[in-house]
Amino acid sequence: MIPVSIAPMMDWTDRHYRYFARRLTRKALLYTEMITAAAILFGDRDRLLGFHPEEHPISLQMGGDSPEQLARAIELAEPRGYDEYNLNVGCPSDRVRTGNFGACLMADPPRVASLVRAMQAVTDRPVTVKHRIGIDGLERYEDMLRFVDTLAAEGITRFTVHARIAILQGLSPRDNRTIPPLRYEEVYRLKRERPDLEIEINGGIKTLEEVREHRRHVDAVMIGRAAYANPSMLAGIDGMIGAEGDLPGRTREEVVREMIPYLRDAVAAGSSPRAVFNPMLGLFAGRPGARYWKRGLSGRLPEGLPPEEILEAALSSVPAEIRGEPLPAVGSPPAANSPPAVRGITPEGVLRSRRT
Ligand SMILES: Cc1cc2nc3c(=O)[nH]c(=O)nc-3n(C[C@H](O)[C@H](O)[C@H](O)COP(=O)(O)O)c2cc1C
Repeated sequence: MIPVSIAPMMDWTDRHYRYFARRLTRKALLYTEMITAAAILFGDRDRLLGFHPEEHPISLQMGGDSPEQLARAIELAEPRGYDEYNLNVGCPSDRVRTGNFGACLMADPPRVASLVRAMQAVTDRPVTVKHRIGIDGLERYEDMLRFVDTLAAEGITRFTVHARIAILQGLSPRDNRTIPPLRYEEVYRLKRERPDLEIEINGGIKTLEEVREHRRHVDAVMIGRAAYANPSMLAGIDGMIGAEGDLPGRTREEVVREMIPYLRDAVAAGSSPRAVFNPMLGLFAGRPGARYWKRGLSGRLPEGLPPEEILEAALSSVPAEIRGEPLPAVGSPPAANSPPAVRGITPEGVLRSRRT
């Protein structure tokens, strides 16, 4: 199991984010946003499933509650070369609940077993599951254990556990990422009691120091909002996990310049410049000039300027010594644990209700 991953985040971990994240870490596992099986079956598959070869290793996160649809969706995705398929059993949003999938499926382990069985039957790639430690009414450690054991009996060996319960009655998806308390100890206990399973912990992890601490107890750590709000922290991951072929240490300016050919291609292929800029807004989080950088890439973008010139202009608004700073030394904590809110992005997440 890859010891560090960047969480699936709807509207955030799109292909532009993932390409950008790969300028900073080669080794962390990246996830797509959750894509429903029905969308894959009936939607624009190139748009939903396409990704750049440099995004590997990449996991396709899927939502669904129909074994047939999930299996067919994997068959359609297989030629794209995803490294694994992940089933979302952690998302508490209404949109997902009305489809009877996401976190509410934790109440029905045999149903989830039938889903993963169907998924595994059509692929040789690993099928993994992301879930919560519980949902309202099924909040005890033993309930989670029963869920995990049911899936382990189907041959699932990798679990990502968001260390909060999901409260399906009365909390928004956003509140469900902050209000239920984090219960890391239960995830550690799962690893202790099921040592043969590969357990990844998720929820509220903000720094590489915290990643290192969690790894003493579990196999892997998933970082979500902090990785988006403060992407520079990704630069410390490869060195921390001692992977071969580390990216050379670079400055933020070099990272930005590496995005220019990608930006040109993406815009030529029909993306808006803003969609490519968004994942980069937090690159200078916590450093002098961060505000100017963000301002240059958000709000009303200058008309008639090629997107790469907008990027260059934003870059030159950051003091040269900050642009040229080496990215965080291996394993060091990021410059800011709680980066300031940027447009539409807060350390807690974004507010749009359709997000999971
Ligand atoms: C904007 C946003 C979108 C999310 N979308 C998904 C999703 O599509 N699938 C999923 O399993 N979790 C989703 N999540 C939850 C994250 O994967 C993660 O479990 C959660 O944010 C807790 O980790 P963190 O505290 O490190 O952010 C989303 C979270 C955010 C902030």
